Amino acid sequence: MITYLDSKLKAAIHESELREVLTNLIFNAVDAMEAQGGTISIRTSDLVDKVHIEVIDTGVGMDEETAKRIFDPFFSTKDVGNSGLGLSISYSLIVGAGGTLTVDSKLNLGTTFHITLPSYSEDSRMPSRSSMEPVDQRKLKILVVDDEDQIVDLLTTILETSGHEVTGIAEAARAIDLLQKEEFDLLLTDLGMPGVSGMELARLAKDSIQGIKVIMLTGWGAEYENQDLKDKGIDAVVSKPFRFDELTAVIYEVIGKGS
Ligand SMILES: Nc1ncnc2c1ncn2[C@@H]1O[C@H](COP(=O)(O)OP(=O)(O)OP(=O)(O)O)[C@@H](O)[C@H]1O
Ligand SMILES: [Mg+2]
Repeated sequence: MITYLDSKLKAAIHESELREVLTNLIFNAVDAMEAQGGTISIRTSDLVDKVHIEVIDTGVGMDEETAKRIFDPFFSTKDVGNSGLGLSISYSLIVGAGGTLTVDSKLNLGTTFHITLPSYSEDSRMPSRSSMEPVDQRKLKILVVDDEDQIVDLLTTILETSGHEVTGIAEAARAIDLLQKEEFDLLLTDLGMPGVSGMELARLAKDSIQGIKVIMLTGWGAEYENQDLKDKGIDAVVSKPFRFDELTAVIYEVIGKGS
């Protein structure tokens, strides 16, 4: 691995977030060079009010079709065990910090990821998980329930990056407990989970917390009639896989409707 880093450069992003992004990019580069070996280079440069970071590998590269989809949640060309979430989380962290993440790739030649981030200065407003307010909406208290840990992690990361307060839970039984003890503005729950179904959780949420909104995550959203859902206490359905901007739009639509 070759690094060309300018230690004087400072980017306005939280250390843990940048670490997560660079780790994802480096693991991907290592995977891309698994068969034939190669070189990873990391380079930084100063764009005056921005910092540019490149992660370059000489691995297998991607065709155009693949390159178009890599930032989609759950898109992966690798074996099971790879969630396909690495780049989508990285993307949301960089964009959340006011930067950009793009890719240049040539099949069989290699790949370069470009990160730009605002430069840090004493008075730059650091977006932080605890202090960043949602741009156009109030900060929400959200309970996320899904039996897949990785989906809980993904949703928690992106919703926190948008400035919300998020509790993520992979066991529906614990969610039942929490819904009876704490107040939430929104329940975001998977439909099919072992033990307790999302429908049961939704009903319990509506019974326990006045004004709570419920969004159901499902692969079969189309099967439900709107009225049927309303009767069951569901405010909206989002089908997996979803894009972050779609999910965000649904959240704001549901919250904006009032109780
Ligand atoms: N450096 C790279 N070279 C070639 N292909 C890449 C590279 N980085 C990403 N990709 C492609 O983009 C896809 C998505 O990457 P992403 O990191 O989101 O998921 P993943 O690596 O498959 O799984 P995970 O990171 O969740 O373990 C990969 O499956 C791969 O096809
Ligand atoms: Mg990855």
